[in-house]
Amino acid sequence: MESCQSKGCASKQEKTQSDQDVAVKGSLAKIKNKFIVMSGKGGVGKTSVSVNLAMALAKKGFKVGLMDVDIHGPDVPRMLGIQGMMGLSPNQKLIPMNYSENLCAVSIESLSASRDDAIIWRGPIKHSVIRQFIGEVEWGNLDYLIIDSPPGTGDEPLSVAQVISDAKAIIVTTPQEVALGDVRKSINFCKVVKMEVFGLVENMSGFFCPHCGKEVELFGTGGGERTAQAMGINFLGRIPFDPKVVSCGDSGTSFQEKYADSPVSKAFSAITERMAGR
Ligand SMILES: Nc1ncnc2c1ncn2[C@@H]1O[C@H](COP(=O)(O)OP(=O)(O)OP(=O)(O)O)[C@@H](O)[C@H]1O
Ligand SMILES: [Mg+2]
Ligand SMILES: [Zn+2]
Repeated sequence: MESCQSKGCASKQEKTQSDQDVAVKGSLAKIKNKFIVMSGKGGVGKTSVSVNLAMALAKKGFKVGLMDVDIHGPDVPRMLGIQGMMGLSPNQKLIPMNYSENLCAVSIESLSASRDDAIIWRGPIKHSVIRQFIGEVEWGNLDYLIIDSPPGTGDEPLSVAQVISDAKAIIVTTPQEVALGDVRKSINFCKVVKMEVFGLVENMSGFFCPHCGKEVELFGTGGGERTAQAMGINFLGRIPFDPKVVSCGDSGTSFQEKYADSPVSKAFSAITERMAGR
């Protein structure tokens, strides 16, 4: 007997573009607020900010999804300390990885067999992956979806802007002037793709001396606030430099649970208050 495949039946079983559109719309309708964390420059703390904002919102009782669209360097699972593969629901949708009752996450890493696989994908494939991360994932009802992106204004943030038209941008920078120059690029990108800029976060801003508790300015501070003012966008706050952020990120430990009263945890909590419109 001739198999169905050879007659081309298989292609009919594949989801058509319009089926996918319906799935994407259906998922998005159940998510109240969408934020993409971005920056012009690498290593300024996008993933740390994404993870910590997601944790701070979850701690306040919101249902939060964290979507890692950094396809080449997915860091979210490592920082959350979660491993394993995403499962499939009975209706063939991907089930996000559970971090806690209120927080789940989706990353390309949870789809690829090995952590060290280098993933080489072109723009159009990235676009379809991002659509699938929305339409073919069982996100359920969420108060917040936080999207962590790779540095720059490339395919990933562009796809997010196209697929999630009501996503708002949180731009991360460090106090150094070079990083601030990149902020302008990110803001201009948002203008071009018509994405609302929610505001600017200055990360690694100042350092509290562990010996005397006094604040030391590492790279200068206040540049973020001045740039936000000059560009007419909201300044969301400063997050101090704290070496414990690095060790928690590396070991997949929740900084905010371990150091709830630290200036870093308070800074994240204050930003989530603004995200909640308070
Ligand atoms: N406030 C902070 N205090 C101390 N270290 C920090 C802080 N924020 C981030 N880091 C550290 O800086 C490094 C880079 O952070 P992270 O990976 O979050 O940046 P990123 O912008 O996502 O990088 P990439 O562009 O590679 O995706 C990490 O080692 C992280 O632990
Ligand atoms: Mg990152
Ligand atoms: Zn000191």
